[in-house]
Amino acid sequence: MPFLCVNVDHVATLRQARLGTEPDPIAAAAMAEIAGATGIIMHLREDRRHVQDRDIEIISRTIQTKFNFEMAATEEMQSLALKYKPATVCLVPEKRQELTTEGGLNCIGNEDRLRDYLAPLHEQGIRSSLFIDSDPAQIEAAKSIGTEYVEIHTGHFADAASRLEQKAELEKILQGIKMSQDLGLKVNLGHGLNYVNIYDFADVPGIYEYSIGHSIMARAIMTGIDRAVRDMVEIIRTFTD
Ligand code: PXP
Repeated sequence: MPFLCVNVDHVATLRQARLGTEPDPIAAAAMAEIAGATGIIMHLREDRRHVQDRDIEIISRTIQTKFNFEMAATEEMQSLALKYKPATVCLVPEKRQELTTEGGLNCIGNEDRLRDYLAPLHEQGIRSSLFIDSDPAQIEAAKSIGTEYVEIHTGHFADAASRLEQKAELEKILQGIKMSQDLGLKVNLGHGLNYVNIYDFADVPGIYEYSIGHSIMARAIMTGIDRAVRDMVEIIRTFTD
């Protein structure tokens, strides 16, 4: 059975909307683990728009399953990874203005740089994953870098404007999964996966892990809203007229 790694970035997004202390992504991570998540992902962005340094520091101490540190390949992130020693780092490209990670990492032509970048992390026993588009040249480059995992970008599939386009994107992903597996890479999938489109991968063998954030947090709000409102109504009911 594939694993489910839950991304709690958007719990932090909600907290940062008020620059306060709740909801706390650390508490959300613990609840996700109790519910069966086999790993927790946090993306510490250069602009600190959601996850903060404090979150990385605390999750590293409280994680019960495995912490997957999603990050850009910068010097700052490398030293944080060496300090906090997550189970895995997932390297992603990062653009200041993007709403979310828009595309895969460009490994082609960056093989030496990325290999050197990952070397000290690998020496410390930290595993690596490269978030890439399902493109044969990117997969080959990722393999030559010496990563253990690739995370194939499912965002174009998830965002496809028509079922036809979605099928074409799915086909590309399936070919990428097969090629990566043939090369001995472990394959994760992530970005835009939800309670509907995940069924398209039900019969695909050998997927190591799904990395899912937004749709789970969106559902958590909807499934939790009834209880949250009832709790407040209950409190107000106890007040005198
Ligand atoms: N994997 C990577 C590399 C990502 O950048 C993201 C988004 O932060 C995800 C998975 C999760 O995507 P989503 O929030 O759309 O489920």
